Parts: sequence; structure tokens; C-alpha cells
Amino acid sequence: MKNVVNKAGRMLVLFSALLITACNSKNNQDEPAQDRWKIGIALSDENTSDRWRLDGANMKALLEGLDFDVDLQYVNRDIAKQRTQIEAMMNEGCKVIVITAVDGNSLGDVLAKAKGKGITIIAYDRLLMNTPDVDYYITFDNLGVGEQQGEYIRKALKLESAEPTTYTIEFFTGPESDNNVNFYFQGAMSMLQPYLDSGKLTVPSGQKTMQECGIADWSITNAKNRMSQLINEYYFTGSMPDAILCSNDAVAQGVIQALDEKGGTDGKYPVITGQDAEKASVRYIIAPTPSQSMTVFKDIRTSARAVVTLIGSIKGNSQASIQFGTPYHNGVINVKTYACETTVVDASNWKEVLIDSGYYLASDFTDEK
Ligand code: GAL
Repeated sequence: MKNVVNKAGRMLVLFSALLITACNSKNNQDEPAQDRWKIGIALSDENTSDRWRLDGANMKALLEGLDFDVDLQYVNRDIAKQRTQIEAMMNEGCKVIVITAVDGNSLGDVLAKAKGKGITIIAYDRLLMNTPDVDYYITFDNLGVGEQQGEYIRKALKLESAEPTTYTIEFFTGPESDNNVNFYFQGAMSMLQPYLDSGKLTVPSGQKTMQECGIADWSITNAKNRMSQLINEYYFTGSMPDAILCSNDAVAQGVIQALDEKGGTDGKYPVITGQDAEKASVRYIIAPTPSQSMTVFKDIRTSARAVVTLIGSIKGNSQASIQFGTPYHNGVINVKTYACETTVVDASNWKEVLIDSGYYLASDFTDEK
């Protein structure tokens, strides 16, 4: 299990500190106005997830600290608005545009225009699909996220033991328009499929495909509605699955709300996974009666620093460079990719990973422990 923040990530942090120092001393010499670069950051979901609010603000602050001008925009999952926003960024002279697409397939023609203007396109977190006009991809190990979630369920239910006990499970993932969902779902399934095949795990709803289990817009409410429906249709009063694979924290929060509303948890919840280490989910994990079992922590400080380092190198800072790993194929080209590692967080290590690293303040959780 990949539960250690990788060395490359740490190196990058150190490297970025270097870069910041180097750029600051340069900028003190009054950079000519034409050397100032404007960077567009077009993000997708402001309202569905804390993760994106933090991520955008952090990237903006890092870039502004290096004297870049920044246009940071969110679209709350509105595809048409995102297209308009990116066009506006092109027209206002952005040299680089960092994009987390609402729908990775919807921007091809806009990106072609950007390329025509010599703008560098960085796909952030989610790959831009089926276009030759994406230069770089900064992300996390998306397959690894799913594997970590599946592995956690496997261990928590002791699926490997020879005991004849069987367990029930339901699957909740994200929308198909988000290319990451393919990896999250595939990664989790790769860990659990052998137990579905052997009958050790069963799915009372019978819903096992990514399409059937996809939650539109990664929405808490949509997840809650689907869970309520599953309980009504497939579970006896007071009963629930032994495990619920949730691809991210928002989805897990909706699922837990449905379980709470239906009652019958009797102080004991299924094994429930998540992703993003959102504060609400961390609270669920460390509560005296934990409802969510784990989350996969993606340290967005590391991915943001990778973006900033990359932009520095594009601008010609010889001290800034990134070591790309295995490229991701977007259906048309292999895209140069830097994928940060992720960390499993549960009640046993949350303090060390989230507080000691300075990601959150201990006071954010003082009511709980
Ligand atoms: C995914 C992203 C996750 C999560 C989700 C919902 O693409 O990788 O971190 O935030 O979207 O916004």
C-alpha cells in the first residue's frame, strides 16, 4: 500500500522553496512590465468540495508570490461557462492556462485556439481528453487512489481469511465526464473483484458498473438520494451493507447522511472509504462513533508546487525543472505527466499526516479529540 508521501514530492517542495528564493531575488530588480506573465487557472467545482477552494487559493498565492499575475476562476461544474472563461483567459493574454475540466472531452476546439496563440496548457488533476493540444498533466496517482480504497476494504473485512463468512458491499463513484473516475473505479475493483468472483463479497443491488454507480456532479445530495434508494429497495429494515466504496469524501458524506436518516446504524457503520481529506470527513473519521473509515489524502500543496515549478521552467528559469514520470495517454497523445503520491488516512494516523504536516490546524478538530 502506498501510504507514504513520496520522496519526489518532498524534493519538489524543497525545490520550490529554492525557486521561490531565486525568483524573488530576480523580481526585486524591478522586472520590466512585459516580462510579467499572466496565468489563467480554470477550475471546476468550487461548491462541491473544500479541496478545490483550498487548491485554487494556494496556487494563486504561490504564483503571486513569484510576481505572476493570476486569473483564478471556478465554474461550479458548468461546461459552457468553462469554455467561455478559458477563451477570456486567452484574450486577456495569459501565457499559461491551468485547467481542471468539468468534462475532459468538452474543450478540444477551445484548446486548439489556445495552441494557435502559443499558450501552454497544463491539465491539472483531471486529464484533458482526446486533444493534441495539452502540454502537461500534473496530477496524483489516480489508479493508486482506487487501489488504496479497495485495499482498505479488503483488510478491514479480512477478505483474505479462510472463514466462510460473506459480506455485502455497494459501490459509489463519480461522474463519467471526470476522466479520473475510470482510474478510481478500476483501481478499487482490481482489489475487490477476486472476492466478488468467489462470492465472498456480494452486491445486493446488483449495481457494479461505473455507469450504475456514478454520482452526477460528485454531489452530496445525489449520493444521499442513491443510498436512500438502495436501502429502501434492497435492504431489510435496520440492515445495511458491510462496506460502501465511495470514491471521494463528498460522496461518502452523502452516503452517511442517508444511513443516519434511515436510522438502524446502531452505532456501527459499514466500512466507508473517501478521498480528499475534507474537514467534514476527517471529523467523521475521528468521532467517538466513527462513520467514515478512511480517506485518501492528496496533498494539494505538492501538486500546486509542481504547477508553479513547471510554470517557472516554462518561463525560462533554469533552476526550475520537473522530472516527469509515466505519461498518461489522452486518447490522442501521450501527455507528459507528473503524478504525486497519495496517503491513506484513518483514525490511527490522521494527526501525524494532517496536523503535524501543517495541512490543518489541530484547533480545526478540537471538539472531536
Ligand atoms: C476528482 C478529484 C477529486 C475530487 C473530485 C470531486 O476529479 O480528483 O480530488 O475532488 O474530483 O471534485
